[in-house]
Amino acid sequence: MDNWVKRIGVLTSGGDAPGMNAAIRAVVLTAQHLGIDCIGIRRGYNGLIGGDMVPLGAGDVSGIERWGGTILFTARSSDFTTEAGLRRAAENCRFRGLDGLVIIGGDGSIKGALDLSKLGIPVIGIPGTIDNDIGCTTYTIGFDTACNTAIDAVDKLEDTMQSHERCSVVEVMGHRAGHLALNVGISAGATVTIIPEMEIDFKKDVSDRIRLARLDGHTHFTVVVAEGAASAETVAEKIRKSTGIETRVTTLGHIQRGGSPLVRDRVTASRMGYKAVSLLAAGVFNRVICMNGEKCVDYDIEEALGMTKGLDEDACNMQDALMS
Ligand code: F6P
Repeated sequence: MDNWVKRIGVLTSGGDAPGMNAAIRAVVLTAQHLGIDCIGIRRGYNGLIGGDMVPLGAGDVSGIERWGGTILFTARSSDFTTEAGLRRAAENCRFRGLDGLVIIGGDGSIKGALDLSKLGIPVIGIPGTIDNDIGCTTYTIGFDTACNTAIDAVDKLEDTMQSHERCSVVEVMGHRAGHLALNVGISAGATVTIIPEMEIDFKKDVSDRIRLARLDGHTHFTVVVAEGAASAETVAEKIRKSTGIETRVTTLGHIQRGGSPLVRDRVTASRMGYKAVSLLAAGVFNRVICMNGEKCVDYDIEEALGMTKGLDEDACNMQDALMS
């Protein structure tokens, strides 16, 4: 097959996520395998606007699948949200002879990819965010590793809460979604999990549950709060006032974004990177690579951005039953 694609670019954008490097590696190696040059665009869309680009070959990506972060750096580009910035980015793609772009990032980054596609740049989006909050895909790169990092921290907090008979209030990331909090709450055996998707009656859903758990013989408690749902400080203060139990707040913050990616993230990222370049090479573009359960699929980018997903209802009901 005479490949119409001679050179592609790859960039990471928005918040970093463990597994982004594995995706970059897969893009570079698949491109090389298909005889396509690969250019790394550094610092997200800022690098596209400013022409901050480096050629990438197999040697540049050797061993990076086990590294957290992104070797290409990342940014949330305010310039790219302007008409002038967007046009400059598209002009730079043409000037550098990029026949296609692979964009790895969250929903904002994929929206940016759609904007570029409207200016005639062939794009493929790969969902990478620890929040797992992109509607078109059941899984986003980084989610599993972030969950495990948070669970490890909550497990450690349990030890000291047990010794002091306290209540640990742990704030986890997730942006406006509760996927991370729900999974951490289930896995860490939280007494209560507070997520933005479910309204709570503080007395019934938090204070009374903690009181009941105490009556059941529990001497220490864990409350997981999604950052998009409530302030952990406020929750802790209300628990202290309503139950008399001593509370401690831990905001896990950016620790959840770091660390060596776990197998699910390495494999998913590799599958997505491979598929992205395979599609471009076949002349298929303006798609988002998604997981539909265990299947790696692709959707039209505009259609993909219109898709929504809620939390898994069964998981929510189970969490409700298991909180103690
Ligand atoms: O989208 C990933 C995420 O880590 C969110 O969970 C969090 O709200 C946000 O990014 C933090 O962004 P920043 O790194 O810009 O502080």
